[in-house]
Amino acid sequence: MRISTGTDGLDELLDGGLPEDRLYIVSGPPGSGKTTLSAQFVTEGTRNNEKCIYLTMHETRSELVNDMSNFTFGFDRAIQSQKLRFMNIMSEEVKQALSQYGHEPGLTGRVPALIDELNVDRAVIDSTMLLQHFLDDPEEELTEFITALKDTEATVLLISEMTDPSSYSKEHYLAHGVIFFHNFLENTGMTRAIQIIKMRGTAIDCDMRKISFSNHGLAVHPDVEIQQ
Ligand SMILES: Nc1ncnc2c1ncn2[C@@H]1O[C@H](COP(=O)(O)OP(=O)(O)OP(=O)(O)O)[C@@H](O)[C@H]1O
Ligand SMILES: [Mg+2]
Repeated sequence: MRISTGTDGLDELLDGGLPEDRLYIVSGPPGSGKTTLSAQFVTEGTRNNEKCIYLTMHETRSELVNDMSNFTFGFDRAIQSQKLRFMNIMSEEVKQALSQYGHEPGLTGRVPALIDELNVDRAVIDSTMLLQHFLDDPEEELTEFITALKDTEATVLLISEMTDPSSYSKEHYLAHGVIFFHNFLENTGMTRAIQIIKMRGTAIDCDMRKISFSNHGLAVHPDVEIQQ
């Protein structure tokens, strides 16, 4: 089954939405829309009464709420509901809470166990770049983490900033799908775009499409191709 992304225009580009229970990597430069897309994704989940978690290493709950308060898509309502659980993995309280899940020590075992034990439907993890700093053996543990996340019954968005935009990393190969954001500076100003790099089981083209931010949030314009 396909589930709605909660982002206007994106489901159309994905042939009806994201195949559920799979793992997707969301990559792109700073300020390109990764967090907004993810917030819209879990907000859509809460609207459908799904259980959602937003795990971050980036920001506090109030910072995220504050950033999303620019938009009217309803993140504040979602986060206040019992349906969406916000967890900043850096906080001692959350580390304590996580230690109850699973049998293996370390984040990479605990998080998939939490997703399973709480029957989470949608999960966002922001981000692998920061996560790597907390792993003893980042290469190995990240692979295990992604593999374990793929085995859960949740649809997972894993945010992965790319340090080198010309080289894909292992997580891009392991994921069921990869969504890329672009920001380029042109004569006319900044152009923003989204590109579906891969989506197993879905007929997609890899062309870039225009995206825009408005008071409502992030929207994709599936009919407007962007040439680089
Ligand atoms: N009301 C608004 N109208 C237009 N643009 C907005 C509005 N509010 C925020 N923005 C822009 O939306 C973008 C939000 O980006 P977002 O936080 O989703 O990016 P990100 O990819 O998660 O970045 P980072 O890697 O730094 O975490 C910012 O570039 C911001 O300037
Ligand atoms: Mg972000």
